[in-house]
Amino acid sequence: MPLENPQRYTVTAALIYANGPIHIGHLAGCYLPADIYVRYLRGTGRDVAFISGTDEHGVPITIKAKKEGITPQQVVDKYYTQIKTSFEQFGISFDIYSRTSNKVHHETSQQFFTTLYDKGYFDEEVTEQYYDAVANQFLADRYIVGTCPVCANPDAYGDQCERCGTALSPNELIQPHSTLSGSQPVKRQTKNWNLPLDRMQPEIEAYVNSHTEWKTNVFGQCQSWLKEGLRPRAMTRDLDWGIKVPLPDAEGKVLYVWFDAPIGYISMTKEWAEQQGRDWELYWKDDKTKLVHFIGKDNIVFHCIIFPAMLMAEGSLILADNVPANEFMNLEGDKISTSRNWAVWLHEYLEELPGKEDVLRYVLAANAPETKDSEFTWKDFQTRNNSELVGIFGNFVNRAVVLTEKFNNGLVPTVSTPDDDAQLAVDQGLKDELAQYPDRIGQAIEQYRFREALTLLMDVARLGNKYFAETEPWKVVKTDPQRAHTILNHALQVAANLAILCEPFLPFTAQKLHDQLGLTTKLDWTNAGRTDLLTEGHQLAPATLLFAKLDDDFIQIQIDKLNKTKEMNNTENAGATPAETTNGTPEALEEAALKTVASLKDTITYDDFAKLDIRIGTITEAERVPKSDKLLNLRVDDGMGGRQILSGIAKHFTPEELIGKQVTFLANLAPRKMMGHESQGMILMAEDADGALAMLPPSKPVWNGGGVS
Ligand code: MF3
Ligand code: ZN
Repeated sequence: MPLENPQRYTVTAALIYANGPIHIGHLAGCYLPADIYVRYLRGTGRDVAFISGTDEHGVPITIKAKKEGITPQQVVDKYYTQIKTSFEQFGISFDIYSRTSNKVHHETSQQFFTTLYDKGYFDEEVTEQYYDAVANQFLADRYIVGTCPVCANPDAYGDQCERCGTALSPNELIQPHSTLSGSQPVKRQTKNWNLPLDRMQPEIEAYVNSHTEWKTNVFGQCQSWLKEGLRPRAMTRDLDWGIKVPLPDAEGKVLYVWFDAPIGYISMTKEWAEQQGRDWELYWKDDKTKLVHFIGKDNIVFHCIIFPAMLMAEGSLILADNVPANEFMNLEGDKISTSRNWAVWLHEYLEELPGKEDVLRYVLAANAPETKDSEFTWKDFQTRNNSELVGIFGNFVNRAVVLTEKFNNGLVPTVSTPDDDAQLAVDQGLKDELAQYPDRIGQAIEQYRFREALTLLMDVARLGNKYFAETEPWKVVKTDPQRAHTILNHALQVAANLAILCEPFLPFTAQKLHDQLGLTTKLDWTNAGRTDLLTEGHQLAPATLLFAKLDDDFIQIQIDKLNKTKEMNNTENAGATPAETTNGTPEALEEAALKTVASLKDTITYDDFAKLDIRIGTITEAERVPKSDKLLNLRVDDGMGGRQILSGIAKHFTPEELIGKQVTFLANLAPRKMMGHESQGMILMAEDADGALAMLPPSKPVWNGGGVS
């Protein structure tokens, strides 16, 4: 059950890893909705702490350091500053933006661990792991290489040979050695501390089930985890980067990054409270406080299951009231991917399109992936700017101000009550409708429906435009100046309402609009809906434009930039190897699996399955389909004379690298035409956490046309 009438709010936004810059996907999925929510709450006078910062521990940081040839500390220092600056410039209004490397965070996390330890919550578990005796360090499987027992590739990894695709374990490698020191790894026992999520399942289940109001994507993912059954999870790791485990027999061990990171919300609240002279405990211990976590969908299990379990075990802290996680935003038809540089980076946007922060905020909020994955395209960016921000919002405000300049020297005109019933009715209609918007917008925001809230905001501008169309003050002024003045006054009141109501979404525009209306103090949300916000005779500032049109050339620069990336990716032969990406190590793979595992589809019968005719074939020809950046036209030897299959994988594979490869395909899919070519089947692919695709070849060559069962 959601908390009724909270006394205060603790709102958190995910602590992003300080190992790379921010892109539009992060903004649309997490930070922008959080900021809209918080700005609205503050506007309506609520007590809010808006907390975020960077996550500076864990394997993703050490991998980045290795890749860039710098220390983990240098990595986090560089990206903390860059990320913080980008957020500030973009108007994300955190009360504090801190980092998990701070002293107060280390202390808070260790204290938290000790509390759970003292309460007897942890189970100790001893396992055998590979150890590099020269580098003095336990090794993730990816850090061990040797000769593949199957194909004799001398550079096979401890978890897989990338030449022949065989899944391996480090002890199968011939002459295994550590990539850190070159020495031969030895097996060593190691002890770690598990949180018994299995035993805690009933409590966790009760918590999740008490929140049927959560978004369906969030609630559904929780249910599928619970249905599978929770397993114990180690809260410590054998790593040298992180927060030391505060136990005497834990040399060389750190807290699991997903243990310490969410505690960051608490330690950062402490830091903020200290700065502000407030009591942090009110924000974490009072059950009248509403705790809301904004995150992307890849963080759901950590925020809805693991962190709540930690909080329950600790015993004195509140649990999240809601976790409004979003799905992902795609870019120009393709998944955003850091390793393929397929993204619009915030720091680049801020540099290349200065002064257009609100345009991006608008477009991202309008397309926010609230219920399903969504799409960002530069064409849509241009259209929304030109026909919505310029055409509806800007146009209305500009007409109100310019007409007032023209007919009343820029002074807010006097209102007189019309004798004419029709005129009276139009004015009353405007007032009645306007009065409903603040609540409707507020409700939508409080229910995390930000797209709807934004549409309602634009409806206020539409209402203003409609009023102008009905009353035509530019004509009326010639015969009835008094009436024209009344109309303009009303229109300006609508503009003043826009200045209030747009603030959560478009804070820079809200400021400009206040300036335009000659307002030196900020109008108050609680007064929104009224038509006496501007007093008669009040002086407006000279008319300026709130938004400017974007022409094709402008947008083309951005499209060209992406096309260049695409070309580079294609010639670089599908980009980085897994070892170079953060998806390389088992820890990272395990995390990725936790993050992106989709809920299971409905159960099918064997008969359903038997209808699929899945076969193996060899690709004999491959070429790009002209005018399509996605499609490849493939000729597949299916043992029956060959067939043509169209496949949307052009962004992932070059034609050359496909020829001669065996693949798995669906052979009895009804033929269909794509870009004028008939496709007679479908190539099956595996999808990685970051959207990269992998083919599904048999583990040894088999005859073409062979069935899969
Ligand atoms: N660093 C994680 C990520 O980028 C998010 C951590 S959120 C918090 O996916 F729970 F740890 F705070
Ligand atoms: Zn091999």
